[in-house]
Amino acid sequence: MADLISDHNGVSWEWRNESTQKPPKQVIFLREAGADKVLKAAYEHTAVIWQGDFHQAKQVLAAIKKRLRRPAKTGGDIQTAFHTHRMQQAQQSRILNMLAVEIDCGFQLSLPRAPDVKAALADVYETENTRPFLLPLNQLLGFIGAHEWHKKGIDLPQLNGKIHVPFGVFSPLRGEYLDLIAQAPINGFQTAFDIGTGSGVIAALLAKRGISHITATDTNPRAIRCARANFQRLGCAQQVTLTETDLFPAGKADLIVCNPPWLPAKPTSTIETALYDPDHAMLKAFLNGVSKHLNDNGEAWLVISDLAEHLHLRNNSFLTDCFQTASLEIIDTLHTRPAHKKAADPADPLAFARSQETTFLYRLRTCSS
Ligand SMILES: C[S@@+](CC[C@H](N)C(=O)[O-])C[C@H]1O[C@@H](n2cnc3c(N)ncnc32)[C@H](O)[C@@H]1O
Repeated sequence: MADLISDHNGVSWEWRNESTQKPPKQVIFLREAGADKVLKAAYEHTAVIWQGDFHQAKQVLAAIKKRLRRPAKTGGDIQTAFHTHRMQQAQQSRILNMLAVEIDCGFQLSLPRAPDVKAALADVYETENTRPFLLPLNQLLGFIGAHEWHKKGIDLPQLNGKIHVPFGVFSPLRGEYLDLIAQAPINGFQTAFDIGTGSGVIAALLAKRGISHITATDTNPRAIRCARANFQRLGCAQQVTLTETDLFPAGKADLIVCNPPWLPAKPTSTIETALYDPDHAMLKAFLNGVSKHLNDNGEAWLVISDLAEHLHLRNNSFLTDCFQTASLEIIDTLHTRPAHKKAADPADPLAFARSQETTFLYRLRTCSS
């Protein structure tokens, strides 16, 4: 997101922020300041644009993070804990984003001891900037970290290869759901749709399993670019067509797979649209629309965990009710337990729910009657 804001000289600046937060009301340019001063400004909706040493700016940011860290609230029901946790995260992120830097033309960061950030920013934004803009330091650091991960890639044994994921695209880092896609029977399917392809990992896996014509869709243009690059690297670009579209492409397929966002909540940034889906809107639209796109004897595979149930964000019969409403019946259910570290992290306020999480692949078909 980009907004225009004015400094005290009336000069207008582009303020870039990946989250849906409102831009600051004011900006002040400072060579140095302590965490207290930046925090005080932040609470008054004023962003500090750091003009001094880059490493010092990082130290101030770390000090602010430490001050904002609050012990997880205990007691109360799990649903409230989830909403409180999300609210605290949003408030902390808004405050942290009030320490920013100026990015000059050509993605240059001209602070003393600043690293070269050009490649990291070119990874995030499609076109190079011809005007300076302001960017929260915390986000810049996130972009730098994501760029390193993007270059390195994630080794996926199910693919016998690597998936490279830039900032802003869902990462299959906790990839136990891929084991389910790798195990479910392919039944001679020749055509498939991968709905909400993200990095393209599921489409690539289906291609590896021998499906010759796959169409992958996503509404996030970054995901489309990322998936295209992954298909080329993995040598399956001939088998997969990419379409930037809402849910289904035109036509029908033997197999339609979807790994939707798993939690019914409001996203606060573009990347969160891969995790949170208000009122399960995408999930319901997928289930209600999938039959129209299935060939005779075709299957829909839905990948989803039950975390939302453990967080009391939906009831236990929600999914089966949705299947019934969409006239779908279950052929088989495959499941696995997450092996990711967060599931065992007692400092995570949602650890209780995460420790009970199971990931499912539902094989569905249109009801015969
Ligand atoms: C949980 S991620 C799954 C990504 C990938 N399929 C995987 O399994 O790693 C959900 C994806 O669905 C995409 N998405 C969300 N709403 C969508 C919609 N209405 N139509 C198509 N894609 C959508 C998101 O951008 C995101 O890439």
